[in-house]
Amino acid sequence: MKKFAAVILAAGQGTRMRSDLPKVLHCIAGKPMLQYSLDLVDGVTDQSPVVVIGHKGEEVQKVVGEQARFVVQHEQLGTGHAVQTAESILKDETDYVLVLNADLPLILRDSIVRLLELQRQNSTPIAMLTVLSDDPRGFGRIVRHADGGVERIVEETDATPQEKLINELNVGVYCFRANWLWDALREVTPSAKGEYYLTDLVEIATQQGEKVQAVVATHPDEAIGINNRVHLAEAETVMRKRINQGWMECGVTFIDPSSTYIELGVEIGRDSIIYPNTVLRGYTKIGHHTHVGPNSMLLDTKVGNHCMILQSVLEHAVLEDYVEMGPFGHLRKGAYLADHVHMGNFGEIKNSYLGKGSKMGHFSYMGDAEVGENVNIGAGTITCNYDGKNKNKTVIGSNAFIGSDTMLVAPVSIGERSITGAGSVVNRDVPADTVVIGVPAKEMRKKDA
Ligand code: UD1
Ligand code: CA
Repeated sequence: MKKFAAVILAAGQGTRMRSDLPKVLHCIAGKPMLQYSLDLVDGVTDQSPVVVIGHKGEEVQKVVGEQARFVVQHEQLGTGHAVQTAESILKDETDYVLVLNADLPLILRDSIVRLLELQRQNSTPIAMLTVLSDDPRGFGRIVRHADGGVERIVEETDATPQEKLINELNVGVYCFRANWLWDALREVTPSAKGEYYLTDLVEIATQQGEKVQAVVATHPDEAIGINNRVHLAEAETVMRKRINQGWMECGVTFIDPSSTYIELGVEIGRDSIIYPNTVLRGYTKIGHHTHVGPNSMLLDTKVGNHCMILQSVLEHAVLEDYVEMGPFGHLRKGAYLADHVHMGNFGEIKNSYLGKGSKMGHFSYMGDAEVGENVNIGAGTITCNYDGKNKNKTVIGSNAFIGSDTMLVAPVSIGERSITGAGSVVNRDVPADTVVIGVPAKEMRKKDA
């Protein structure tokens, strides 16, 4: 069996991005561009891929971690030179080298598989991926022989006006026969800009009388390469379409897919409805028959089944089933809403548990609180959880009734079934079945049995 290894070119600065962040770490649908290349080669090659790093290489290496091996291209002298730096690792290890520019996040697995298949069957020095498109995007143009075979690639900067009209473009994905590649790279001479172009290998092969094979990408979108922020936004739009379409095929309704932003790590259950201007990020999971939005943002949040989330922001939170929240609710890290919790407008919950059936209808804040079942939290109730130095805990027993505008000065606990009067400032623990009122709150009476 012939062996395949991948080299991913990620050393360039990406000058045209005008960014402090290396180009390949910019995200599309929440995933760094380079990760798309790593995912693409995973499973179709035999060895761990080699990533060529250079500009801010340490940052890139940190993000990739154990997923690849690295070689450093100290000076970015062009794509040909970049591939050459991988020779030391791969020379005796592999029969074929799959080379990918790391700025092509939309390539589909199918195109790679077809490319490798072509190479496996024919064993020519180069098989490459091309695309037919009327938008040249600064890509190299494919010049073909009269007999249809690929003759050479001409970079846009070096192309004649006639060549610029060619609508077959070089995608930036190639598969080389290794024992040909390493020698041929030594024959590449620098361009007018002093760069060693990987693309010159095509002409070198042709001159040796070798045949260069090409696979045409199925869809022009695949070849959206990212050189600047306009391309980045274009790629985001295409990826968004793909992701949303995927969820629609799984039984999720989108009122307006074009204004619904779902990152790749998200999961959504059947018969859920996502309203416009909704952003689902990170590892957010939505159950079935749940409605989210409009105008909501969920990050790393788990939502159960049959929930309703209206105009709200949820971060690192958990909602069980039949929870209703919003409009204008904010769940922060560690918020946990059990079954049938109702949270109305202008509420905020942080690091707190709200038990089954509890209600917090209007203008309230629960921080570092543990709330039992069927508690009524009156309008304007606030846990005063921070004393300037420490965060303190509030405990509210099941079936308690917290009157409107109660200040719960933590650490404090309210017993089961107890009641606080409107406007109370509770700074001492309240036993079960007790009514307290006032500032500071005092026991008025035991509750009638
Ligand atoms: C390249 C191709 C062009 C093709 C286009 C499509 C060459 C000479 N041209 O142009 O034919 O149509 O891609 O994607 O290859 N890199 C390095 N080291 C370097 C230079 C670049 O690692 O010294 C990396 C970059 O990080 C990037 C990739 O190689 O991921 C491509 O470089 P880029 O400068 O974007 O090439 P293009 O101008 O797009
Ligand atoms: Ca590019």
